[in-house]
Amino acid sequence: MSELISIDVQNAGTAYHRPAPADRERVDYRALAREVDPVGRGKRYLIKTYGCQMNEHDSEIMAGMLEEMGFRPASSEEEADLILFNTCAVRENAEEKVFGEIGRLKPLKLRHPELILGLCGCMAQEESVRAFVRDKFPYIDVVFGTHNLHRLPELVVQAAESRETVFEVWDRPGRMVENLPKLRKSGVKAWVNIQYGCNKYCTYCIVPFTRGRERSRLPEDVVEEVRQLAREGFKEVTLLGQNVNDYGLDLGTVDFADLLRAVNEVPGIERIRFTTSNPWNFTDKLIDVIAGGEKICEHIHLPVQSGNNRILKRMNRGYTREAYLELVHKIRERIPGVSLTTDIIVGFPGETEEQFLDTLDLVRQVEFDNAFTFLYSPRKGTAAARMKDDTPAEEKKDRLRRLMEVQYEISRRHNERMVGQVVEVLVEGESKTNPDVLAGRTRTNKLVLLRGPKELAGRLVPVRITEAQTWLLRGEPAPVLEGVSP
Ligand code: SAH
Ligand code: F3S
Repeated sequence: MSELISIDVQNAGTAYHRPAPADRERVDYRALAREVDPVGRGKRYLIKTYGCQMNEHDSEIMAGMLEEMGFRPASSEEEADLILFNTCAVRENAEEKVFGEIGRLKPLKLRHPELILGLCGCMAQEESVRAFVRDKFPYIDVVFGTHNLHRLPELVVQAAESRETVFEVWDRPGRMVENLPKLRKSGVKAWVNIQYGCNKYCTYCIVPFTRGRERSRLPEDVVEEVRQLAREGFKEVTLLGQNVNDYGLDLGTVDFADLLRAVNEVPGIERIRFTTSNPWNFTDKLIDVIAGGEKICEHIHLPVQSGNNRILKRMNRGYTREAYLELVHKIRERIPGVSLTTDIIVGFPGETEEQFLDTLDLVRQVEFDNAFTFLYSPRKGTAAARMKDDTPAEEKKDRLRRLMEVQYEISRRHNERMVGQVVEVLVEGESKTNPDVLAGRTRTNKLVLLRGPKELAGRLVPVRITEAQTWLLRGEPAPVLEGVSP
């Protein structure tokens, strides 16, 4: 198996990978999983997921494969026969958390040596992590990467049979595998992969190394999956990719706007979302399709990262502050009521107080509905990790605190403006924290809690907003649809 084995993160995916149709494999995974049965029969699994929506969705795929093998979900670690850590490598603290958790499980593993422990996801793609596992956590049974997730059934069998840790990490993607079973958590909204990998190489980011170069699924495969979801009663889909604006570049026949248009035509689906869009390649055509597609929600997650041109350049983001502001202006002009959210990194190497103030100023100017704010975390192998960074950690933390303060005030103010309005809410089910309350989202992706019969789950309900907090809205079902805004 030549594509197998250890990788050098530095060289991962250096050649442009252009998948031909032959690079796509349609496998009957149900049959394959049954072949390795009864490995899972009567056994229980637990998947611990860290990081982004792509990881959440990968975990749904792994759960689907495991259930085909006969595994059932475990309600606790003690009950589990298999525990998988689906990990994130984007920031160091996410990695430390995983190592802490694995360390915590050592006594359990010693008590139950037949328990299979697995580490997968983005951390597994890092050579340094694998070396650390060899050294510190030899009781982990299997380590596999992002490109060979589909091999889970065989890997579980190998792990059960081997006394040594089984490592299977491919340095670059093999064939794109279709038809994997998926066990989706929600019956109302579903994630759908449209693209894997990222070509952008932002200097701070490890994703292009852990997920490889951009590869697009064929539009017909995406649309067929959405059709199937509609048949199963799903109401909302979120199209997933690290850089969805680039969708189709490798196919050459279709772009992201075309795909959105095609998904908008699928009957039964009521709402379409997508993430993540890079400001760099946000075309006018795309704005028009979002504006015109009645199912495409008025919410765009548009990571800005910094409001300072020098920092943006050193981040290799490919746009300026002015271009970003211009794009925001265009989007707001053509998509009335659109909500905008963003990602911001504070304390990029060499960021001065003045440069940080530019970010703060941009946040005040744009007035995002929400911002995910991160302290810069150096990632081995990335260009930024080699840049001089002399800002004290305390100062960086203080910048983060000031940024969050400004954003919280804006988020709250935006939410307060909605009190009294009637908005369309897709009810997802019981709230996670209170089963007497239903939770749903507006088209603009704001969380709404409301009281009402459980039968509202899966339905679009007009809701009058009665109360606003920074992170959520409360409301009550409104009798009439008239005057509903996004
Ligand atoms: N295109 C992807 C990016 C994944 S990383 C997406 O937006 O879904 C998600 C966010 O993590 C990035 O937008 C960035 O703000 C943050 N991030 C990435 N690398 C980081 C690093 N080294 N330190 C701190 N934050 C980082
Ligand atoms: Fe990372 Fe930039 Fe791609 S943030 S995922 S390299 S767009």
